[in-house]
Amino acid sequence: MSSAHLSNLSSNDQDLADRRTAILVTGAGGEMGHGLIHALADRDPECAIVGLDLRPTEDSIGALCTETLTGDIRDTEMLEDLASRYHFGHVFHLAAMLSSNAERAPLLAYEVNVGGTMNLLRLAIAERDRTGQLPVVVLPSTIAVYGLSSLAAKTVAGTITEDEFLEPRTMYGCNKLAAEHLGRYFNDHHGQFESETPGSLDFRSIRFPGIISAETLPSGGTTDYGPEMLHAAARGEAYTCFVRADSQLPFMTMPEAVRAILELTDAPRSSLSRASYNVRSFAPTAAELADSIRTRFTDLDVTFEPTPGRQLIVDGWPADVDDAAARCDWGWAPTHTLDSALDEYLIPGLKAHYGLE
Ligand code: SER
Repeated sequence: MSSAHLSNLSSNDQDLADRRTAILVTGAGGEMGHGLIHALADRDPECAIVGLDLRPTEDSIGALCTETLTGDIRDTEMLEDLASRYHFGHVFHLAAMLSSNAERAPLLAYEVNVGGTMNLLRLAIAERDRTGQLPVVVLPSTIAVYGLSSLAAKTVAGTITEDEFLEPRTMYGCNKLAAEHLGRYFNDHHGQFESETPGSLDFRSIRFPGIISAETLPSGGTTDYGPEMLHAAARGEAYTCFVRADSQLPFMTMPEAVRAILELTDAPRSSLSRASYNVRSFAPTAAELADSIRTRFTDLDVTFEPTPGRQLIVDGWPADVDDAAARCDWGWAPTHTLDSALDEYLIPGLKAHYGLE
């Protein structure tokens, strides 16, 4: 663009012309980061993606990104430097400490999960101030925002909706619920003293159940027994499950989780009636999961040896969640049962991943 052309631009246009428009993905090297970055690049190979992670990202992710950075979301200088070079219209804030790790280091978890989220929200608000455009901020939240007081209460509650049982019993759940509320505040109310139309960003959040990928394993979560059991089966290893056989939680596959993120991101803002939505695909007990895997990997040997802390967490999370709001507002529809998830995605994906057959 010539300088003569540039001089005709308004200051907002000038600002946008000076910075490359990009999508920011934090937690780019994590499980969901992998899936999301591949999906974003698949659907628009021209889009600029900036990937940020605490650890160096794999080359396969780097190849799909305009830039990958190794850095900490608590580092505001690093975020300000990024914002000086890019115009972020979309921020997918995936970086977080998961539930079991957060319980082991609750103060660090607060800094990362709440402080880090606040830093990303500030980056988005600054973007709105500079450009006048509302950035879309998408946050994966979690079933950990719910807290059932006992196993008996969990059994009675059954399938729960978004506004019930919001008394998390884990640091991770408290952090994510706080992050949801901060996002909702900046979406609905920020600037209410100055403007009749407050709101500084477009915040959208999904409360994910346990997520199972055929390619990667999570670390530090409490739903990890699902993916761990499956990957152990594919590797021909025995698995010691850290929860009781009758423990029930909702789950979904990683491709369905990524699809949910993209569908929520694409939904017209006017169709969204809430900041955070439940999604789920199937809700087996740990024993049902083991039995279903064993019909495909017949040698699977699972022993159930619950560890008290992690069992307590699972007993406080809902057996299943009601996804009616997501279905109604943005057309969410899960495509998998446990059996179809195993047959159509997980087993073929694991066989390819581990070079079986
Ligand atoms: N998968 C998360 C965890 O176990 C819950 O959303 O921490």
